Amino acid sequence: MCEKIEVLLKDKIGLDISSVGTASVKNAIKRCLVNSGCDDLGQYYKTLLSSEAEFKRLVEMVVIPETWFFRDDIPFDIFSSHIKSGWLIPRENSRMLKVLSVPCSTGEEPYTIAMALDKLAFPADRVQIDAIDISQASIDKAMTGVYRDNSFRSDDLTFQSTYFNKVEGGYRLKEKVRSRVNFRHGNLLKDDFSLMKGCYDVVFCRNLLIYFDSKDQEIAVHKLYDLLAPDGVLFVGHAEANNNVNSLFESLRLRGAFAFVKKDGDENRSIGNYDKRFHEFSKKHGAILPVNSQHASTDQVSKSSNRNKPFSAYMGSGTSTSTSSSYEAKKHEEALVSKAQELADEGTLEEAEILCLDLIARFSNADAYYLLGLVYEASNRQDMAESMFRKTIYLVPDHARALVHLALHVERNGDSNEAQSLRRRALRASQ
Ligand SMILES: C[S@@+](CC[C@H](N)C(=O)[O-])C[C@H]1O[C@@H](n2cnc3c(N)ncnc32)[C@H](O)[C@@H]1O
Repeated sequence: MCEKIEVLLKDKIGLDISSVGTASVKNAIKRCLVNSGCDDLGQYYKTLLSSEAEFKRLVEMVVIPETWFFRDDIPFDIFSSHIKSGWLIPRENSRMLKVLSVPCSTGEEPYTIAMALDKLAFPADRVQIDAIDISQASIDKAMTGVYRDNSFRSDDLTFQSTYFNKVEGGYRLKEKVRSRVNFRHGNLLKDDFSLMKGCYDVVFCRNLLIYFDSKDQEIAVHKLYDLLAPDGVLFVGHAEANNNVNSLFESLRLRGAFAFVKKDGDENRSIGNYDKRFHEFSKKHGAILPVNSQHASTDQVSKSSNRNKPFSAYMGSGTSTSTSSSYEAKKHEEALVSKAQELADEGTLEEAEILCLDLIARFSNADAYYLLGLVYEASNRQDMAESMFRKTIYLVPDHARALVHLALHVERNGDSNEAQSLRRRALRASQ
């Protein structure tokens, strides 16, 4: 009967059970069954079919609202740079800027957008920020605007003193930012967004597609395509720039953010071809080091921090554990790991995967195992990713980043004790 409920979750909200782990979904179902007052799973299943409120209670238990302010940093740098050059500097542009955050979870992402715009002194009456999530509990929390330490995980926390007041139990977001976001309950897969067709200049849809199977990803990507203005920019999460996204969107190939524009060939397109737009965008955002930028010298690239490279940002330095003893062979091995990292950064995941497998076969290289874990995460092969992170820490027990990733996987599979112990190990390792 649990399987029937899992199918229901898949049909209604797109949740691919394997992405969060069967054990955690089964636990959630069991807890909800107890609270529902139903005698058994059969009765509970029928209640779920007839009662929207009961179904919503289950949804609240299975969604993953994990989020924080300025998550991943770079997409917001690019966003600010894009708004500055496309909306603030050209005097003739007095259009209303419309931004969508879906899913917005507990509000950290849309509020980050609002803070970024405030920092640019973007006129408040020229912007509309909409935020949608399927979890009503998350929306309610977002609207209160009070956050605990867990929401402040970025390296740079200077925004905290500017935009928050310390209150009992956390930090309260100042009204001028809070009032800029319109929250709404919604389901990206099922709701009819036809009234908002082509409406948004920027859409953030990060860390949602990873929970969908390929078919639902395709549906979601079509919805995003419809919501985005012809010249709009879409941001997805680092594990989400896959074939479904690439089928309708063209990557802007920026380091550190998965930003996309609509592909040519759509009848709604009002501005020139992709190449022209890509070059304009990369010229404007030269500082962000687009992968193929003419402006970025090798020196700049090598000095640039890992923040600018999606996969590299997750790679440590010098944790390689080669079994090879010769210096030359070690150098060669390290160069291959860097190459694999580069390929992953550029989004050529299949090539990165082949190189990692080769490195593993030849050198049993721990970083290759770890990178392969990231590549599998990015292509939604979560079980294989978990196994790669396990292999990494088998070879290098204090590989802090692999420990953190493994903790997330284990937690999704419902084992919070092991997750906690892995996090403690990661903390010790990073110290
Ligand atoms: C991990 S959070 C991502 C939040 C934010 N975008 C970020 O990256 O930090 C995932 C969110 O997706 C929401 N969600 C899951 N399925 C959804 C759907 N079909 N439509 C809209 N939101 C959904 C969940 O409620 C959860 O808050």
